[in-house]
Amino acid sequence: MKNKMKNKMFLLMLPMVITIFAFTIAEKQTEKWVAPVAAKKIKNPVAESKRSSSAKNGAKIFKVRCIVCHGNGGKGDGPGGKALNPKPANLTSLAVQNQSDGEIFWKITNGRAAMIKWEGILKENERWDMVNYIRTLKAKK
Ligand code: HEC
Repeated sequence: MKNKMKNKMFLLMLPMVITIFAFTIAEKQTEKWVAPVAAKKIKNPVAESKRSSSAKNGAKIFKVRCIVCHGNGGKGDGPGGKALNPKPANLTSLAVQNQSDGEIFWKITNGRAAMIKWEGILKENERWDMVNYIRTLKAKK
């Protein structure tokens, strides 16, 4: 008798547990990626006058390292990103462009999920080249 009660309780709880579990997973995958507050203040070390040559170098690296996921124009539509969840970010979007250079640098440096942690692969100055290149994507919509 007691066991039957337990079974009933279990069956009643099961859908609840599954629902909570499913929500937790969904939440994880759609959770907005926010750089830590301190990242906002990291200063772009490249002088204004050198940003366009830095961006040019960034464009070269982008072709080799990033296009596969982020796509030719950086819109997040590269062939390698199709099956990913979360999807590669649209780097031309306001959601990205409204972040500070430091936040973008921090994300490139640290990565998350399928986004590669570029620290150790790209040198620090190359990661800044990427930031400066991403800034040039703003105008091209
Ligand atoms: C294997 C696929 C892949 C490659 C290669 C890749 N990315 Fe990403 N990138 C992603 C994914 C997926 C996200 C979204 C991650 C998330 O939201 O958790 C992302 C996010 C980003 C973001 C953060 C945008 C935001 O939401 O604020 C930046 C910046 C970025 N990538 C830059 C780059 C740069 C620069 C390169 C090349 C050096 C690169 N990515 C290469 C998959 C990739």
